[in-house]
Amino acid sequence: MSDRERDIYDVVGVGFGPANLSLAVALEESRSQGGDRGGISSLFLERQASFGWHRNMLLPSATMQISFLKDLVTFRNPTSSFSFISYLHASGRLPQFVNNQDFFPTRQEFHKYLEWAQSRVADRIVYGSEVRSIRPASPAAPERSNLLRVEVTDTAGRDSRTVMARNVVISTGLVPSMPEGAERDDRVWHSSEFLEKYRRMNRRELHRVAVAGAGQSAAEIVRFLYDELPHAQVCAVVPSYGYSIADDSPFANQVFDPSAVDDYYFGSPETRNAFWRYHRNTNYAVVDDDVIRGLYRRSYDDEVQGDRRLEFLNLTRVTGVKRVGTETRLSLQRGPDAEVRELDVDVLVCATGYDAMEPTGLLGDLDGLCRRDEAGRYRVERDYRIVTEPEMRCGIYLQGGTEHTHGLTSSLLSNLAFRSGEIVGSIAARRAAIDAGTVALTTEAGGDISAGAVGTPLPR
Ligand code: FDA
Ligand code: NAP
Repeated sequence: MSDRERDIYDVVGVGFGPANLSLAVALEESRSQGGDRGGISSLFLERQASFGWHRNMLLPSATMQISFLKDLVTFRNPTSSFSFISYLHASGRLPQFVNNQDFFPTRQEFHKYLEWAQSRVADRIVYGSEVRSIRPASPAAPERSNLLRVEVTDTAGRDSRTVMARNVVISTGLVPSMPEGAERDDRVWHSSEFLEKYRRMNRRELHRVAVAGAGQSAAEIVRFLYDELPHAQVCAVVPSYGYSIADDSPFANQVFDPSAVDDYYFGSPETRNAFWRYHRNTNYAVVDDDVIRGLYRRSYDDEVQGDRRLEFLNLTRVTGVKRVGTETRLSLQRGPDAEVRELDVDVLVCATGYDAMEPTGLLGDLDGLCRRDEAGRYRVERDYRIVTEPEMRCGIYLQGGTEHTHGLTSSLLSNLAFRSGEIVGSIAARRAAIDAGTVALTTEAGGDISAGAVGTPLPR
């Protein structure tokens, strides 16, 4: 155990994807600019052995779904040395990138950018470390604890240790969702494990593959399998009549602006419903225009050639999966009252989406100090801190799992830069107030102390 793992940290980040990477950079910039009155100490714990952002979906031609300007920092600090443009400059590719005239880099290039950024804050990250639980440091009077105990094991499950934190920022990401009755195995995969499982297969054994879902993951995997397996039949099991386009037109795209968070957070229940009713199609169960057109073109060309390798089973859902010999037998249903049809395939890929981040398991007994709304969801302050019992001094911040309070950007990259600045501002302001003995510990709906952090970028 190294010294830094014995210390007490102002912030311990749980999970180190783009969200907590953005926070690490915001903390670094705050420190170097003297914006946090003496430095906020931090440690980030990540269960993967090295940095990886949805590695199993780094398909060759997949592009980003946001502009490169929505990187880790630019919306908070356009002059940051951690921007995507700085990365391009450092890599000697800035002119070439500009010649491309494209706002949307490939996911592979963005991954390289994230790796470059994390290497510059590497002294604060411990990879191969899975957080198992977060507990109050004083079990006898948990609500009065000044510190949290973060219990960590290495990924092999051998070495356990404890890290102490004044605040935790939980950012453990989306949770893969499978169709009911479908268990993952070596022939039934979720899209989140796609490349890893695909690489283990003998491609010559794949004669018929099925992909369930009508979102971006499904469409990208269908395109990949069709191109990679010229001898195979690819069946797309699509619950809609056909893939629908992701609305990224300028007015609709405003739902991802930093200011939309306030409109959502402070909006009435009707306002929040309107966000979902009108703008769910900016993100869920939708596909980028170029991917849709590329798939249609392939399908049409097949028709011209009289060789239909790409089959779209529309209005259809996977309702069951079982193993029959070496075959995987799918139950497919075209509408709830329709007859069940069976289809044997070599592999089923379930690109069936994700559930929101859910920190309850990590919080254990601490969860009892966290307040919930009538629907059983966490109540969350505007500064992304869970509303806790009023005496509790430790902050439990969420990056993810806040769609019900902060809106559509909760699980996305669009608002990372700005949100990280808000969280750093909140932690610094709370610490100053606690030191001065003036802190109002739970404020809800952006009252006093958290209001200072709302929408306030770090000083530059
Ligand atoms: P993310 O899931 O990236 O990271 C969470 C990390 O926590 C992981 O590294 C995980 O290993 C770690 N972890 C989990 N539990 C842990 C524990 N107990 N202890 C320690 N570590 C733990 N959005 C967007 O705006 N634009 C885009 O282009 C895309 N593209 C995209 C592609 C694909 C294939 C998917 C599936 C999703 C997207 N998204 C997206 C949405 C996506 O949620 C977003 O890009 C980020 O991954 C969100 O970053 P986070 O850091 O919150 O989660
Ligand atoms: P998603 O958008 O939630 O789509 C899941 C799809 O699976 C939906 O069409 C859903 O239909 C369908 N489905 C669920 N159960 C099913 C069943 N039993 N049978 C058949 N279909 C079923 O998930 P996603 O495509 O993984 O996207 C998740 C996030 O990742 C999004 O933010 C997306 O933009 C992002 N992403 C980005 C990239 C990129 O950057 N290039 C690539 C992939 C994903 P219903 O809605 O009808 O249930």
